[in-house]
Amino acid sequence: MPLIAFVSPKGGVGKTTLAANVADALRRGGRAVLALDLDPQNALRLHFGVPLHDTGGFMAELPRRPDWRALVRRTAPDVLLLPHGAIELRAALEQALLLEREPATLATPLREMLSDPKLLVVADLPPGPSQALAVAAPLATVIVTVLQSEAISTAMLAEVESGRFLGGGTMAALFGGRLQFVLNGVDLRARLSRSAAEVVARHLGPRLLGAVSRDEAVAEALSEMRLVQDMAPASAAAGDLRHVARAIEMLLPAMPEVAPAASAAGPLPGLLRGGW
Ligand SMILES: Nc1ncnc2c1ncn2[C@@H]1O[C@H](COP(=O)(O)OP(=O)(O)O)[C@@H](O)[C@H]1O
Ligand SMILES: [Mg+2]
Repeated sequence: MPLIAFVSPKGGVGKTTLAANVADALRRGGRAVLALDLDPQNALRLHFGVPLHDTGGFMAELPRRPDWRALVRRTAPDVLLLPHGAIELRAALEQALLLEREPATLATPLREMLSDPKLLVVADLPPGPSQALAVAAPLATVIVTVLQSEAISTAMLAEVESGRFLGGGTMAALFGGRLQFVLNGVDLRARLSRSAAEVVARHLGPRLLGAVSRDEAVAEALSEMRLVQDMAPASAAAGDLRHVARAIEMLLPAMPEVAPAASAAGPLPGLLRGGW
């Protein structure tokens, strides 16, 4: 039922990495999780071992109003995945226009996903303001903003804290109350990273859900198309990611647990057979 949206003021800060690994941690914690890629980069699938030649996906097919259930991939970590799908520039522009003119093309299927009381939806959004965000944010339970531990994050803190980076005026006001933050790429040995982390932590207080260390294990896991917890469970980043997932879970309403990931049945056995 809840929707957790991962957003960021700029790209390359670890948004997709966090969305994928938090989705995995929540699944390991007993939730049925649907990871939804709303970013035309179509990168969320890479963390779940979806083969590179599998370029299909939900958002790329939006103009023909697909049945999202038919496009769900069941992944090895037992997280259900709706990839964005590969998309050309022209199609991406048309998608943005479609979402502006007819937001229901995304809002209706998203509401359907959220209507399942057992299902938790984790969405990876494009950086900055976007039409997809304008549709998804009003439905989100928690909006997790990913910041890099660097000087630019501290310089932009007022902009970021107010939510203005998600779009001016009403948009920002609408999302402001649900904005939470995670600091990624923290390196306590690097003076700049450490002082940026301190400034951000002091400024955001309890709205900072946690921090994730800069850790080679993160990039290594991605290069193997696996999740950090699976590939390097003892790494610093894996511990940090578990902590962030727990902090996010604390913000969610109580939900029924489903069979653990190891179960042969897995979550939502009806989904892929259309028995939704
Ligand atoms: N904590 C981290 N430590 C080391 N590398 C990281 C970390 N977080 C992300 N990365 C790497 O940074 C790059 C960008 O991450 P990504 O999640 O794709 O960012 P975004 O979705 O914000 O564009 C990837 O190569 C990823 O492996
Ligand atoms: Mg990304």
